[in-house]
Amino acid sequence: MRHTIIYLLILPVLMAVASSCDDGLINEEYETSVDGQPARVQGTLSGADTWAEGYTLALAGFESNSEYASIIRYISRSTSGDIDVVMSGIPASIASLELCVLNRIRQRIYTFAEVRREQFPTNADTIRFDFGRVRASMFEAIQGKVFTTTCANCHGASNRAAANLYLTEGRSYAALVGQPSQKVDGAHLVEPGDSAQSILHRALFTSLSREQQWHYDHTSEITDTRIQQMLDDWMEHGAQQ
Ligand code: HEC
Repeated sequence: MRHTIIYLLILPVLMAVASSCDDGLINEEYETSVDGQPARVQGTLSGADTWAEGYTLALAGFESNSEYASIIRYISRSTSGDIDVVMSGIPASIASLELCVLNRIRQRIYTFAEVRREQFPTNADTIRFDFGRVRASMFEAIQGKVFTTTCANCHGASNRAAANLYLTEGRSYAALVGQPSQKVDGAHLVEPGDSAQSILHRALFTSLSREQQWHYDHTSEITDTRIQQMLDDWMEHGAQQ
């Protein structure tokens, strides 16, 4: 009983501490190791404020072949501009240090920039990670993870753009958001705030393209549920650039 009371008393304090972390530039969450090498991370960042809930930008360290971050420094949504931070004691088990986005279970969703162990200095010197100028927005992650790799070949990267839709870097945003569909009268390719009405969603995640007998059946184009979720979350969250 006494324990419960004490717990109830300190709970608000714990919550205040937890929420205050989000106000800072970056909040550290890993065990520093005396043996590890320090890392100095520099670069210019934008787009952190475009991420929907459930995703976090971070400077994170991964062990080889793992998609779950072992060391994490969260980057808050309000961060933008020049970053210059020192991470102390990167453990020897870390194979890469990445500017990436993680989901709720610390799983890597997309990596914007990275430095690998092969590039770490061989002595105890500071690891340098200069990621340059990165727009780390939700849309840039979708472009890199989905459009460039899976769609652009038919949609603009070769000598044709199917349905006159360009999903290539630099053109895709303007081609999608608020633009009318060629296939469904009165519908938009991306309707900000309403993924269910967006043809992008309906083409990829419903049987629309099969039912309408499009020249290409899009229904099994994206099967990874994390990617499906990210596309829907992006549209629901306002389809920002
Ligand atoms: C193998 C080629 C191919 C690939 C790969 C492909 N598409 Fe398509 N896409 C087409 C064709 C062809 C059409 C037009 C279908 C028609 O007119 O019947 C189309 C139409 C569309 C449309 C409808 C456009 C409109 O105006 O209504 C959307 C949206 C679309 N594709 C999105 C994508 C996305 C996103 C990807 C990647 C995940 C992708 N496509 C991958 C060939 C492809």
